Amino acid sequence: MRSTSNILLVLLQVLLYTTNTTVAARVALSTASESSALQGDASSVSWYDWGWYGIHPEQHFTSFGASPPRPFILQHDAQCSTTEDENSRYTFVSPRGLAFKAPGPIIYDGQGNLVWMDTQYGEAMDLKVQHYNGQDYITFWHGSDNGTFGEGQYYMINSTYDVAHIVRPAGNFSGDLHEFRITEQGTALMTMYKKMEADLTEGFGIKNGWIVDSMFQEVDLATGRLLFQWHASEHFPVQDTEVPIRKLGRSESTAFDYFHINSVDKTAEGDYVISSRYMCAVACISHVDGKVLWQLGGKQNDFKDLSNGHATDIHWQHHATWHSETSELTVFDNGAYDKFASASNSRGLRIKVDVAAKTATLVQSYVAPQHHLAPSQGSVQILSGESTGAQASAETVLVGWGYIPAYTEFSADGKPLCDVHICPTGYYHLGWCKNYRTFKHHWVGRPTTKPSAAMRPSEDALYVSWNGATEVRSWQLQISKSHGLQAAKGAKSKAGGTDAKDYFTNHGTAVKKTNFESKIRVPSEAVYVRVAALDKDGNVLGYSETVSTVEFTVVALMPAPPLNRTLSGVMTHIVGYIALGVVAALLLVRYRGAIFARVISVVAHAMPARKHEYEALPTAMVQL
Ligand SMILES: *[C@@H]1O[C@H](CO)[C@@H](O)[C@H](O)[C@H]1NC(C)=O
Ligand SMILES: *[C@@H]1O[C@H](CO)[C@@H](O)[C@H](O)[C@H]1NC(C)=O
Ligand SMILES: *[C@@H]1O[C@H](CO)[C@@H](O)[C@H](O)[C@H]1NC(C)=O
Repeated sequence: MRSTSNILLVLLQVLLYTTNTTVAARVALSTASESSALQGDASSVSWYDWGWYGIHPEQHFTSFGASPPRPFILQHDAQCSTTEDENSRYTFVSPRGLAFKAPGPIIYDGQGNLVWMDTQYGEAMDLKVQHYNGQDYITFWHGSDNGTFGEGQYYMINSTYDVAHIVRPAGNFSGDLHEFRITEQGTALMTMYKKMEADLTEGFGIKNGWIVDSMFQEVDLATGRLLFQWHASEHFPVQDTEVPIRKLGRSESTAFDYFHINSVDKTAEGDYVISSRYMCAVACISHVDGKVLWQLGGKQNDFKDLSNGHATDIHWQHHATWHSETSELTVFDNGAYDKFASASNSRGLRIKVDVAAKTATLVQSYVAPQHHLAPSQGSVQILSGESTGAQASAETVLVGWGYIPAYTEFSADGKPLCDVHICPTGYYHLGWCKNYRTFKHHWVGRPTTKPSAAMRPSEDALYVSWNGATEVRSWQLQISKSHGLQAAKGAKSKAGGTDAKDYFTNHGTAVKKTNFESKIRVPSEAVYVRVAALDKDGNVLGYSETVSTVEFTVVALMPAPPLNRTLSGVMTHIVGYIALGVVAALLLVRYRGAIFARVISVVAHAMPARKHEYEALPTAMVQL
């Protein structure tokens, strides 16, 4: 079944390519010693996006048992963070969907190389770095995702990758997946959803109706004390929603999610800026009494738009962030939800909000080179310029395209600098790979694990990596020529200790670490080997286990929770494959002549040495 559907998919991909002459085919598969990411051309849709490297291309490692997606870099610019710079920012993503056997939080470097992945939590959302009490933490939501909102809790992971804190909302609530924002005051903002009965007579004619209320809390992290709690149902009338009620709202099981909160932020004055997807509005909520201080967008928009409507025409938006210093609002304007597309593409927006004058001005919009229209999710992050590091860098803006597995980093004035696809975007509508939000952050990871070393005797090579260690710059191979079992045992038990040097000598110079995993040649005289991970000054950060040069090292898969895929999920998968197969078969029959010709021509181009043989074919037979 699996191989048949894979063959059909490949056929479909060939077909899609052969029937679309504008497709850019210039993708060079880089070698393992270079970047793990694929590099390509930013023009329209590429081989990668059609699934030429698979519906879900992955990176596989010999010394590490998890397989993150293999990103595709369409465009790169030195103004985006690179691995070379000590102060570079890493990219934080947590793609999920049917394509993932073992999803989890992922950190990539600027070249798309894996830095850290952990599958033990399963699906994670809103992965980012936040500052609390003088320390940086990786934070994310984890729980059960109901499709529109989640029931779970928030994790705070420290620099040694341990769970330092698990945060839940106060009272009998579970944490929703949309927001977990730590403030400068050491408090956390979290969203919640709760079903409740509501009189929907006005507007909908339903007396004993049900709604899903949107809520948020501010909780003091040190004490767990609830500081503020807010209910949308107390301040926003249901009939102001922009989403049609259809058959919803008549019972508890069909409760009408009319507001759909998806972000919370805090202003310098202590008020809250929230985003309501279904009101198509961003609102400011008073911290004194919960009243709506202002609303931008939606039916009750308070602002005069000084940009011909482009500053207030937000629809189905996500991730509203308030920048108190500049009185600016950043927000991801999806412009689409389900069948309701109000725009031709999604936009990252930067809006100047004059609260006193009630005016809104569009400062800049950020549109993907491929004009992605994301029906859900998405994020916008301003990355401040920096004067540390090798050279001063200017402010940039990172936009994550949510449902479409891609992110783009722009110059402040809207020019795309770096453009990356996490998975093939040609199949985004199947929802097999989506990434709620994308962030870039500085991060220093010092895992308590050892570097991982895997011996491949047939290749005379040792593969080494260290999940999450951000400070490794090179690997020093160390060998032991002793065959004595005692020496080996001693080396094994003391590996990493000071006495281990009695058994090991450095072999060759240290190998520069350029990628997640490095392959190091092992000399024939070595009986046991290990590596020392070195930092930029050559200090040893850690030693791997000692491995025998004649034994194939088995590396276990990272633990992952069992996939709780419902039948409907599996069915979607199967039906999806069958549908693609049928389409492929139909197209194959319909365009077999053209396909044959195109395959011949692609083969001809792929083999320049034999090109003349194909050029000699009569044109009538090729039917171009
Ligand atoms: C998710 O929430 C929606 C909105 O209330 C509800 O209709 C749906 O039944 C929920 N799904 C699950 C699996 O609980
Ligand atoms: C990280 O958290 C773990 C568990 O709470 C703790 O043992 C460890 O000391 C912490 N590491 C750092 C660097 O704070
Ligand atoms: C807590 O919430 C659950 C589910 O919403 C509910 O079944 C339970 O009765 C609540 N418990 C209390 C003490 O309110």
